[in-house]
Amino acid sequence: MRTQIYKIENTTEDLAKIREAADIIQSGGLVAFPTETVYGLGADALQPEASKRIYAAKGRPSDNPLIVHISKFEDLIYIAREVPKEAEQLAKAFWPGPLTMIVNKNEKVPYETTGGMDTVAVRMPSHPVALELIRQSGCLIAAPSANTSGRPSPTLAEHVAEDMSGRIPMILDGGEVGIGIESTIIDLTEEIPMILRPGYITEEMLAEVIGQVKMDPGIVASDSTQKPKAPGMKYRHYAPKASLILVDGEQKAVMDKINALTDEMQFQGKKVGIIGTDETIASYHGEIVLSMGAREDEDGIARHLYRILREFDEAEVDVIYSESFATPRIGQAIMNRLLKAAGHQVLVV
Ligand code: TXA
Ligand code: MG
Repeated sequence: MRTQIYKIENTTEDLAKIREAADIIQSGGLVAFPTETVYGLGADALQPEASKRIYAAKGRPSDNPLIVHISKFEDLIYIAREVPKEAEQLAKAFWPGPLTMIVNKNEKVPYETTGGMDTVAVRMPSHPVALELIRQSGCLIAAPSANTSGRPSPTLAEHVAEDMSGRIPMILDGGEVGIGIESTIIDLTEEIPMILRPGYITEEMLAEVIGQVKMDPGIVASDSTQKPKAPGMKYRHYAPKASLILVDGEQKAVMDKINALTDEMQFQGKKVGIIGTDETIASYHGEIVLSMGAREDEDGIARHLYRILREFDEAEVDVIYSESFATPRIGQAIMNRLLKAAGHQVLVV
């Protein structure tokens, strides 16, 4: 299958291309499209056969449910068994935007879309191309991140093409995404709403709107004794081929430790990759040294994370040492992804 890639500069001028994409969705096909978080791989959420195509293209386990993307709040009412009051409050505060809510589904949503679950994950994205595609198709669009299962989520159309060329008919290229890590997921079917995946919308922001919120213990635990509630969070995603070790502590101590470890590995003839920041990379001497950006710019760090993990996927290094990024606001979301990539290997100095 040839994959058509359309650059979308502007949803009005490029409307004909978005309509072409919408036709594919309507007829049960797949289209990758930009959202504000990461690129999604979309299909009509209410056609079981269309959802199945997503799993096939990604090589995704069939028990891992998809997020349904909508363009208006009424669409949530349309597919939910009931709409909790928290959903209305959160939608008012954060939709369109990087927040996914889990509610009980009604019979309109096929089990192929929810991985067999009786709940459904729903999100209204804010990216103009995503919204226009949903509107033009007249469908609700099921869309996981547009990567091959197990690879870092795509933040550029080029990443989608790496993984999906020849497997899907169309990619809408909207340039680099704005946020770079996937949406926050909150489960509203729990007595106390529970965060199943941290993201740009933080626990504090959610608590300000709906009061008490808890964090899924399964995503905080560094061992496998606690199972995360979101099926997708149990997989070791975002894993570069080389082993990745996080070094945590005060900046100077971290740099010294990474340099000492690098010397040791290079002495053994091993190739070393390093993930640092603009402030530190000049002091490292690994074979490949990449910067996540300025340490103070946590939005930049989130946006660069997956591109950097992908670069290391390609690089022929034996081991990667990374500084840690427990930054004030979205640090929890960034560290959640990095810790998973590292298989929770952390050296505290
Ligand atoms: O930012 C995002 O959310 C992106 C963009 C494309 O919107 N999408 C995304 O989808 O990250 P995906 O499929 O890569 O991640 C969806 C996560 C998985 O961990 C899945 O297990 C969880 O959401 N999930 C979906 N439906 C669920 C449900 N009913 N109950 C619990 N977890 C659910
Ligand atoms: Mg994903």
